[in-house]
Amino acid sequence: MTVVSVINYKGGVGKTTIVANIGAELASRGRRVLLIDLDPQASLTFSFYRPRYWEEELADGRTILQWFGSVLEDDAGDDRVRTLHRYVLTPQIVNDVIGRHGTGRLDLIASHLGLIDVDLDFAADLGGSRFQHGSPRYLKLHRALAEALEHEAFDEYDAVLVDCAPNFTMVTRTGIVASEHILVPARPDYLSTLGIDYLRRKLSELVRDYNRVAGSEAASINPTILGVVFNMIQYSSSGPILAQRNYVAQPGTIEVPVFNQTLRENKTLFGTAGSDGIPAVLAPDANPNVQYELQQLTSEFVAKIRI
Ligand SMILES: Nc1ncnc2c1ncn2[C@@H]1O[C@H](COP(=O)(O)OP(=O)(O)O)[C@@H](O)[C@H]1O
Ligand SMILES: [Mg+2]
Repeated sequence: MTVVSVINYKGGVGKTTIVANIGAELASRGRRVLLIDLDPQASLTFSFYRPRYWEEELADGRTILQWFGSVLEDDAGDDRVRTLHRYVLTPQIVNDVIGRHGTGRLDLIASHLGLIDVDLDFAADLGGSRFQHGSPRYLKLHRALAEALEHEAFDEYDAVLVDCAPNFTMVTRTGIVASEHILVPARPDYLSTLGIDYLRRKLSELVRDYNRVAGSEAASINPTILGVVFNMIQYSSSGPILAQRNYVAQPGTIEVPVFNQTLRENKTLFGTAGSDGIPAVLAPDANPNVQYELQQLTSEFVAKIRI
């Protein structure tokens, strides 16, 4: 099982879109995939469930909020941390489509707006937002998701994709600590690449601090940046518009790998995707160019993470 976090400080760059579509495409190719929604905005969750259903059936007891709550209460041992599998959902509509292709499956752990408060509770538990390394709970809390995913219930998955909020708070950090890889969606412009460099530095800082506290080689983490995926490329009749084309070919000074495959801007497609529970890559009426790009992106992703 490989865990990949999808993260960027910026909102609206395509994190959720990419998680949903790579996940759905992998499942249609026969993989068992788990998506984890760590963003309080819960867009990933609402890509598969209608808000009404979420409110009536999921919100009160079947989201990651309740699991994080039990992690915070858990002083005695790992028992409660290791109950994450109880929150796994199998969204029906998309899995009906996946089932026509083979034996793959797309599961989801849903999010909740209340995750914002969990972040504050986590920070309080660690003694404020700074100088947390001295807290006796530092490792335990940072490792919560990683530890939960070690449960045998998760052995059946080929890949776990974590959709992170556009921040670097504790909930996001649990995603990063649990991950072997980080994927960074971005827009092809100057400001976005500055953001990528900042993110890269914050990641190395977290890894360095964590490993110092962890102490041993065996307990250390080493999540690597799989690559930047440039999204929302604008096309004119002669191809990608020039300014963006240059950016994608030569993304300035960022010191991270870049995926060859980019994704074009396509309002009609992405505007409606999700409302009917099927990501664009599997939607019957989607633009074939967009679907092709999403399929190619998934192939490149598979080659990079080797599943
Ligand atoms: N390539 C694209 N072309 C057009 N719209 C897109 C594209 N990718 C994503 N979107 C739309 O942009 C909005 C933000 O995307 P989303 O994946 O939710 O970003 P994030 O998770 O980074 O906040 C959504 O409405 C989504 O449907
Ligand atoms: Mg999102």
